[in-house]
Amino acid sequence: MKAYSVKELLKGNHLLQEVAVNGWVKTFRSNRFIALNDGSTLTNIQCVVDFEKFDEKLLKKINTGAAIKVTGTLVESLGKGQNVEIQANEIKIHGEADPEEYPIQPKKHSLEFLREKAHLRVRTNTFAAVMRVRSALAFAIHKYFRENGFYYFHAPIITGSDAEGAGEMFRVTTLSDKNPKLTEEGEVDYKEDFFGKETNLTVSGQLEAEAYAMALGKVYTFGPTFRAENSNTSRHLAEFWMIEPEMAFYDLDANMDLAEDFIKSVIGYVLEHCQEDLQFLEKRLLDEEKTKPQAQRSDMALIEKLKFVSENSFKRVSYTEAIDILRNSKPNKKKKFQYPIDEWGADLQSEHERFLVEKHFKCPVILFDYPAKIKAFYMRLNEDGKTVRAMDILFPGIGEIVGGSQREERLDVLKQKMADLNIPEEELWWYLDLRKFGTAVHSGFGLGFERLVLFATGMGNIRDVIPFPRTPQNAEF
Ligand code: 4AD
Ligand code: MG
Repeated sequence: MKAYSVKELLKGNHLLQEVAVNGWVKTFRSNRFIALNDGSTLTNIQCVVDFEKFDEKLLKKINTGAAIKVTGTLVESLGKGQNVEIQANEIKIHGEADPEEYPIQPKKHSLEFLREKAHLRVRTNTFAAVMRVRSALAFAIHKYFRENGFYYFHAPIITGSDAEGAGEMFRVTTLSDKNPKLTEEGEVDYKEDFFGKETNLTVSGQLEAEAYAMALGKVYTFGPTFRAENSNTSRHLAEFWMIEPEMAFYDLDANMDLAEDFIKSVIGYVLEHCQEDLQFLEKRLLDEEKTKPQAQRSDMALIEKLKFVSENSFKRVSYTEAIDILRNSKPNKKKKFQYPIDEWGADLQSEHERFLVEKHFKCPVILFDYPAKIKAFYMRLNEDGKTVRAMDILFPGIGEIVGGSQREERLDVLKQKMADLNIPEEELWWYLDLRKFGTAVHSGFGLGFERLVLFATGMGNIRDVIPFPRTPQNAEF
């Protein structure tokens, strides 16, 4: 007997055939109706049980969470809510789930409660839908780059370079016991590090991607990156996935064009391929919003918002223009910004970014030409000597989703910038080589994958869009 997925059976192609299906019991109503799901799709398949035909002991084992196999005839359903159902002839219990102990019962659980059960939460409709959308987005990303002439390149995870110069890195060590050897001064003996060298988990694959772009033309990375920031926000993780394209012969304008087209394309892909999950997530969000005051509700439902972003131009504004707008604005009638923008050169806080996107322009915004002082060393210096060819993409409800730039390709300027920031040339000798041998204009950006998933699913906390979140609180799994 061939076992089909629930998704396949719901299409109704196997009507009146004997079929088998495996899955986990969602509910078992009136000793008669099993709602079964195998993760292939949001909708459950109904399996109708004639209890007189089955052993009572077996029926007692059909509880929420149990893994079972049902064999029977696929028939049209007369009941509401489904077109087809299985008239069960045979039921096999793969694995029971004791209702006294199994935490995922058929009722509404809070997201906070489910975060404590990261290994089981994907069995709820919400998390299953989010993770299917996440998977579809990952596929869409690879598809986009493949169709646009990019090579997928794997940056190292263990690295000696600090790409962002932000100093928020996890150190790699080869210590086999928990008590590191100390020097006479009582400091950790770094000789015990990665075979004698000081290394870290990568914060970004950009520098290595630049090396590859300078030979393969257009490349991208898509892998885990790490930041040892002890920030407990709903937008930061210690381990997150980043997509980093890097393109030879692209200036900042071409970089912005690519980033915009890329984001629109992958959102368009999920709109087309994840309709059922998106509708479910949209409804979940609407139900949640009903409990909030009007002012906190969003003016667009999820699917409408995704369509809007995938079909309309992003607004491009220079940092200097943005500062002017912010100086002359109040976030609402009475309140000032918590961090007022007093002078040109200040870094934007998320309240400013969200004001520009959500209140002022009401669409995604690309901010470019930031002050050199608040950006990383590798960004190309403008003719004015004080701004760099940087760009950040800001999204409604999220804030920064992309950070990128045109890279400094001139050896002398790059060396000077490194000297100004006390970055030793020995550390990045190979990066400088790229400017010595066949240097060229090039650009790239990094998209935070989880922030994209947040946007696409309408979820509110980054911990709920990655399977096992790594934050200061969630290190148990
Ligand atoms: O702006 P960032 O730090 O840029 C870079 O790392 C560049 N080297 C990228 C490049 O040009 N190739 O990070 C890029 C994006 C951010 O815009 C944000 O979406 C995401 O990565 N990000 C985080 N996402 C989750 N948790 C964190 N702690 C994040 N830090 C950055
Ligand atoms: Mg950034």
